[in-house]
Amino acid sequence: MSHIALNIHDAQSFLSQKPESLQDRVNQLHKVIHEKTGKGSDYLGWLTLPVDYDQAEYARILKSAERIRQSSQVLVVIGIGGSYLGAKAGLEFLNDPFKKDALEIVFAGHQMSGHYLSNLLDYLKDKDFSVNVISKSGTTTEPAIAFRVLKKALEEKYGKEQAKSRIYATTDKKRGALYTVSKENGYEMFVIPDDVGGRFSVLTAVGLLPLKAAGIDTDQILKGAQDALKRFSNPDLKENESYLYAVVRYLLYTSGKKIEMLVGYEPNLLYLNEWWKQLFGESEGKDHKGLFVASAGFSTDLHSLGQYIQEGERHLFETVISVKHSQKDVFIPEEDQDLDELNYLKGKPLSYVNEQALKGTMMAHQDGLVPNMLLSIPQFDAYTFGYLVYFFEKACALSAYLIDVNPFNQPGVEAYKKNMFALLGKKGYENILK
Ligand code: PA5
Repeated sequence: MSHIALNIHDAQSFLSQKPESLQDRVNQLHKVIHEKTGKGSDYLGWLTLPVDYDQAEYARILKSAERIRQSSQVLVVIGIGGSYLGAKAGLEFLNDPFKKDALEIVFAGHQMSGHYLSNLLDYLKDKDFSVNVISKSGTTTEPAIAFRVLKKALEEKYGKEQAKSRIYATTDKKRGALYTVSKENGYEMFVIPDDVGGRFSVLTAVGLLPLKAAGIDTDQILKGAQDALKRFSNPDLKENESYLYAVVRYLLYTSGKKIEMLVGYEPNLLYLNEWWKQLFGESEGKDHKGLFVASAGFSTDLHSLGQYIQEGERHLFETVISVKHSQKDVFIPEEDQDLDELNYLKGKPLSYVNEQALKGTMMAHQDGLVPNMLLSIPQFDAYTFGYLVYFFEKACALSAYLIDVNPFNQPGVEAYKKNMFALLGKKGYENILK
């Protein structure tokens, strides 16, 4: 049995052919993925990571997380893209935003704002903190600058030697500037395996160390991913929701729907959206192909983007995440006077109202010619998070292969960097300005 359910009913009438008609192609691409014969196949390590991860390193992750919790009030996680969004998505998915844990996780190096970093430095002044710097290449500008600044802050606070014991570096096994600096200074180091690309790395130390430090049950995250791995190892579209999702989005794309929106009705899903956008956007947007991926948080965005979705250009479809069981809820109280005319909802849980909003919106959008898929997850827990991560990763690989692009590279990201380096006067980039 699958832990999550995918209902494609409201998309079917928009498809030019039945998903099952692509079963042979799916079988063939399943082989390409598992036999590692496709484009970018050097980066398929994430496929078996939930079952063949480095156990000794995992034990060190657990130990370091405990050490961070004992020694710090704040953990600053430095990273960008795949080196940041997985942990952020997991934290938001699992945490109660109003509950302050003994250890607070904050992020840096995911943009280049001096305003943000300066505020962060002020915030850290009277707090004990540690730093987890994450960069696979070890040379990405945003995290490198943030690390330089935060390392100095650590050194000023604790002295050079003590500062070293508060730095945890997650990077390549043997190369890159961060690798060299970490080795030289004896930081606690964690490895991003060679065959796991940034946006597929949430189940490595990249995601697991910050999540464990935040008090999350990472064993359960891995267990969810392991069960998803088993479930999605069969290419049969009747059994494999991950592949079915990939096929339906492919058929919608080829029928002229060029934008997919991932939609949730819970604020805890907002960063899962961001992680998902990076996963699919960076994996598929190549060779002038690929769905443009966008997201929305409903019902909030029904009061903004909702108008466009209902009546704007008809080039989009939605994948809606519904959370089946509310672990926490609020019941609508009765009032004697009923001036706000809400007594017809008295005693009803807010989750019920939210569910009717979801159903009503899906119907309205389908009437407005926006196809929908409904992805139902049971609840917010670590197991479900791990399961979902693997569900989307596997769907992403098949999706990219269906449009014949390499899912695992990101050549387009270099274009802005070259110009920026030239404008900043970095050695070796002089010719670009000319
Ligand atoms: O998915 C990817 O590969 C990218 O988004 C990277 O994660 C991002 O660019 C950060 O790279 P790095 O970890 O090398 O600093």
